Parts: sequence; C-alpha cells; structure tokens
Amino acid sequence: MERQAERRRETEPVMFSRLLEERYKWQQSEVDRVAALPRVVKYDSEPWVQNAQAHVKYWTTTLLPKRLEKAPIYTFSLLQQLVAPGNKSGKHRHYFEAIFYILEGEGYEIHDNVKYPWEAGDVMCVPTYCIHQHFCTNKDSWARFLFSTPTTFDFAGIGKTEQIELHPQYRYPEDAKLIRNAKGDVIGYETKDGTKFVPGADGDFQKTMDSKKGVVSPDKPRNVYDEYLKEMADQNRWREGIPHVVKGKDCPWEETRMGKIKYLISPYRPSPLLVYDCFIQELPPGGKSGVHRHISEEAHQILSGKGYDIQDGKRYDWDTNDVVFIPVNTVHQHLNADPKKPATFVAFQSRLYKYFGHGGFEHIEDAPK
Ligand SMILES: [Fe+2]
Ligand SMILES: [Fe+2]
Repeated sequence: MERQAERRRETEPVMFSRLLEERYKWQQSEVDRVAALPRVVKYDSEPWVQNAQAHVKYWTTTLLPKRLEKAPIYTFSLLQQLVAPGNKSGKHRHYFEAIFYILEGEGYEIHDNVKYPWEAGDVMCVPTYCIHQHFCTNKDSWARFLFSTPTTFDFAGIGKTEQIELHPQYRYPEDAKLIRNAKGDVIGYETKDGTKFVPGADGDFQKTMDSKKGVVSPDKPRNVYDEYLKEMADQNRWREGIPHVVKGKDCPWEETRMGKIKYLISPYRPSPLLVYDCFIQELPPGGKSGVHRHISEEAHQILSGKGYDIQDGKRYDWDTNDVVFIPVNTVHQHLNADPKKPATFVAFQSRLYKYFGHGGFEHIEDAPK
C-alpha cells in the first residue's frame, strides 16, 4: 500500500498521439475531394498528347500527386491510346500488369518475342513483367485502345518502367539536348533540368527475373516453406502458358440480374490478369440495368448510345465515347435515354478489393426483364 501510494505521487507522463485526429481530418478532406471530382468526363475534354509509348488521352494520370486531381479513382489509371496505321507503339516493360480493350483496329502484340493477334472487341492483356509492343496492321486507320495500369504498384515499391524503345513518331522535347553514342547515333536526350533519358532494358534486373524462371517446384510439398517454392514455379507456368488475348467473340453474353453482360476478364475463368475485371454491358432501347453496390472501383467507356447513371441518388448524363467513373462503395444504375437504340459500354473494375477482403456485389434491384 505504502509503495502504491508513493507511486501515485509521481508525475505521470502525458503523451498524446495526434494520429487519430489527423486521420479524421484526412478522411473528411478525402470525402470532400472525391465528391468534387467528375463522374463523367467528355471525350473531347482531354487533348491527345504523346508519351513514350504512343498518342494518348489521360482520363486519369498515373503519377502522384496529379493523379488524385483528375478522377475519383485510386487503384488504376485510365487512358485512351492510338497507334498509327501500319505502325507500332514504343516497347517497354514494367513489373505490373496492364489491360487494353481494343476499341478500333486490327493488329498484334509482341510479348517477350511471342506474337498475339488482336482485333476490335478483344481484350489484350499484358501480364506482369513482360516486354510488350503493339503493332497496328490497318493501313489507313489508327488502332484505338482503352487501357489501364494499376497505380497501386507505385506504393508497393515496384512502379519502375524500363522504356526499351520510343514509338517511331516520338518527338523530343524542344529544349532537349540529344545524347549520342560513339558512332554519332541519337540514343537519348537530356532535359533542361539535367534529367537524362536513355531508353534500354535493365540488364541486372533481367538476370534476377530470369533466375526466378529456373525455380523448380518440389514434387510434393512437405512443409509450408515448400508451398512457397511451389507457388513461384506455379506462377512461372501460369505466366508462360496463358494466352494474352481474350477474344471478344469467344465470350458469351449472359442474362444476369444486373442486365445483359459479357464478361471478358473475371476471377472465374483463366486469365493473365490478376487485378482487373472487364465486361461489356448492353442496355436495351429505353431500358436500364439493375441496381447494385460494391466496394471496388469501376470505370466505363461508352461504346454506343446515350443515357445516364444514377449514382447514390444523383443523375450523371453520358454520351458515346464518354468516360464514367464509379467510386468505391457507390450504389449505381445505368439507364438508356434512347427509346430506339441500345446503349453499350465497356467496364474495367479493380479486383484488388477482393484481395483486401472486400469482394463481391451487393445486389439491390433486378434489371427489368
Ligand atoms: Fe505498358
Ligand atoms: Fe458495378
């Protein structure tokens, strides 16, 4: 007792963590920020610009902090890309996967020296850590893609991209100082602020990745460690064996409670992609989808028709080629405003939330039959 009484007389250190308050403040500012961002972006509101790969429109950008200023979407970028008639994109590689929906045109990919043909209506998939380049075989029209890369890889420390070749129409910045090799060939450039850009693969990293391909699976895993060894061997087999183009015409239309949907990429069929789902939806003339909600983010590009979304009770009008964003945890429904023609859209949805423990749909209302 005496000892306890003595302890009570000591000055208690009072230490505050402000983290709780800071998090509350941040959460509210995030809610306000997302609420102020557009749900529908008009096709012509974004200019075509060149990047190292091709000509693109940035519906969202990939790099922070600018990315968070454009669209209410956290986990993936969204761009439109053009490849010139009879021409090709740049050639590059990144740790993360990428998804391309072919809106127009015909052509093929070269992925790690393997050719994969594609045409409008297909999904062209770039699996993780794969050298890729797009070739447009149309002689008089451009190939046009809706495409996306996951932004989360930047936060995971594996956001690096190796630009191996620039696309043939690439124009060096006006203030660029050209860098030449001993023979006098241009091999890159230096910008005014001293940033040097010389395309090429990272040979050391290539060696690291090649050594992973040599991993052999234990015949029968005898312990948990063996299971990890098997996992890498299984992933290598999956990466090498899976087709990289999903043919739109091979995927069936399904009459679902959300409406008429064709799933191109989902967790329920073999796929080279792990963090995206992709589908096409058709709304009948004057018709509407069901109503649902999911934690995961979703973005659409309107392929044909005009109409509107109801998102959390608010109306957002869209037209052909527009881009529609559906932020996390939003109740949504799609309605066709044309009484004579169907409306269609292609959707990319983030599958990451499934791995975070927030997968699946909460179905609220059936689409009319
Ligand atoms: Fe890429
Ligand atoms: Fe949805």
